[in-house]
Amino acid sequence: MMTTTTHIRHTDTDTDDAPASARFAWTITGSGHGLAESLDIAARLLPHVDLFLSRAAEEVLPLYKLDLAQLKARFRVFRDNSASAVPVGMLYDAGRYHTVVIAPATSNTVAKCAFGIADTLPTNMFAQAGKLGIPGIVFACDTEPVVVTRSPLDWVELRPRNIELDNVERLTQIDHCQVVRSLDELRAALDARVAESRTTCCASV
Ligand SMILES: Cc1cc2nc3c(=O)[nH]c(=O)nc-3n(C[C@H](O)[C@H](O)[C@H](O)COP(=O)(O)O)c2cc1C
Repeated sequence: MMTTTTHIRHTDTDTDDAPASARFAWTITGSGHGLAESLDIAARLLPHVDLFLSRAAEEVLPLYKLDLAQLKARFRVFRDNSASAVPVGMLYDAGRYHTVVIAPATSNTVAKCAFGIADTLPTNMFAQAGKLGIPGIVFACDTEPVVVTRSPLDWVELRPRNIELDNVERLTQIDHCQVVRSLDELRAALDARVAESRTTCCASV
């Protein structure tokens, strides 16, 4: 069977050709939990990382006083503004992205990824990467019986239901997917990918 490679020029922020070295495709969902911390970790991978936002992520960012314009000044940012998740086409450019990260991952995105649903930019990036054999790392936030998290106004205590906990377990069975349950596990997984992919990325995260 003949294979074809799709070269996408993104219409939002990106007009560059493929970067010289492969990088992380870091997707962000609408989770307040772990949001600022995940962005800090992503920033330590610069310039070897691009951001891909879900629509909910774009709404939630300002609620946590995180400014999209400031993110765009530091990262290349791809927004979820197409029905077919157009930026996914960049995954077909061999050598552009070596890993897809979802951090933080909402319960919603975890559920979709666990059941093979791809209808947002992060879930499409994850699914398509899996079909291409590109490793995925998912920082699932609802993994403990009690999760203490910061709402825009205050700290709140959440008790994930069995369905959320079951979906995390189910996600661990998905091909090419590593589920991490804490920021320390996320850092370790990224360090391992940096080492494996032999990127020129110098910083330990
Ligand atoms: C301020 C705020 C904080 C939120 N934090 C979380 C969260 O920590 N975890 C979560 O699963 N959903 C959280 N949500 C709900 C998600 O944003 C919502 O389920 C959304 O549909 C997820 O879409 P996405 O998975 O495509 O990003 C939050 C919503 C708001 C408004």
